[in-house]
Amino acid sequence: MDPFFKNLGESVYKQWKKRNFDLTLFPEIARDALEKSKPSSNIDLQDLIHGFLLHDEQPFQSSSGFGQPELILYDNPKFYIQALFWLDGTTDIHQHEFSGAFHVMAGSSIHATYDFEKARSITAHFRLGDLKLKHVSQLETGSTVSITSGRNCIHSLFHLETPSVTIVVRTHADPGTGPQFTYLPPHVAIDPVQQDGLTTRRKQLLDVLEQTEAPDYSDLVVEMLGELDFERGFFILQNCIGHLRDLGTWEQVWNVFARKHGRLAAPVKSTLEEIIRRDALTAMRITIEDVEHRFFLALLLNLERREDIVRLVGKQYGGDALATILSWAEELIQITDSGLWMLDAKLPWITGLEEEDHPLIFLKALRYLIKGESSSGKIPTELKSLGARNFAQIKEIFFRSSWRVLIR
Ligand SMILES: [Fe+2]
Repeated sequence: MDPFFKNLGESVYKQWKKRNFDLTLFPEIARDALEKSKPSSNIDLQDLIHGFLLHDEQPFQSSSGFGQPELILYDNPKFYIQALFWLDGTTDIHQHEFSGAFHVMAGSSIHATYDFEKARSITAHFRLGDLKLKHVSQLETGSTVSITSGRNCIHSLFHLETPSVTIVVRTHADPGTGPQFTYLPPHVAIDPVQQDGLTTRRKQLLDVLEQTEAPDYSDLVVEMLGELDFERGFFILQNCIGHLRDLGTWEQVWNVFARKHGRLAAPVKSTLEEIIRRDALTAMRITIEDVEHRFFLALLLNLERREDIVRLVGKQYGGDALATILSWAEELIQITDSGLWMLDAKLPWITGLEEEDHPLIFLKALRYLIKGESSSGKIPTELKSLGARNFAQIKEIFFRSSWRVLIR
């Protein structure tokens, strides 16, 4: 066992014992101990890795799939200390069934906190409500943040460097504070641990039908939605929305669910659309390697306010943040067989415009929308060649894409 973490664990134990192991005091005790001991300044990451690889005297290791990977550095019946490595970074928006504190030992992260307002339980494992972003900040190496269990501490982290490493001092589990909900913005909370084996197998079977291009795929989903309760209907829709959209039957299938569940269904539609948007951006992160572009994608994935994105781009790269974003927009243009793409905005070929002139005109349109000069409602001179109808169409496409957060 690494002597640094042995000392840290023993010191936390001593402090907490003095306070009779009061659970409400643990986050503060853990945070103070991490701030005082400062692993980021006092632990050499290479030494930690070598020590763990070469010495057998380590605490019991869990088989947890959290972290990439998770190393347990100190273990005690009341709490433990873990190092979490993050290679590709984003966590879901989640709450905890444990409490303590985490410390950014290497790398830095974007940290967002949320409230889940007007929450109502559909089942013990599924809730509806309004997820509201509270605060966004960049956590530098050396930052420490406390964690409380339950619904008052909902957050997400996006790790900027590879690897990022966090040290967590945490309880094993705080009774009565579960489930450890994962939040699907803007309106759904699900219990990720709850395993409904029958639904899992049905989703897999639907994937088989998708792969084999079964002609009755949409009809079967419609029939299932007629039979299923709200929660399981949601999971079937979540699984099938992508393929149903490709088939052109999504609206028809959605209407079956909406009719069946009435007002309860309304929050589900925007949640499913947001899942699709996030999945598309996450998939792009696999192919986009440029560090600045990945940073930008992370912001579009995780932030929903223009001012937060502008502030974080300015902080990270200095200068005029909007100009930086527009230069990324230019670099991110992709011309494929299916058309011209700027991230998830698929732009049309304009009749009468040379192919090579398209990127520039779309960039000008985006610059115009982002800089917020559209209040007069008129088309600027530089975009006149597009014509009013094309301009309106392009504006609509940007508004429906991930760029919308930046548009005034
Ligand atoms: Fe967390």
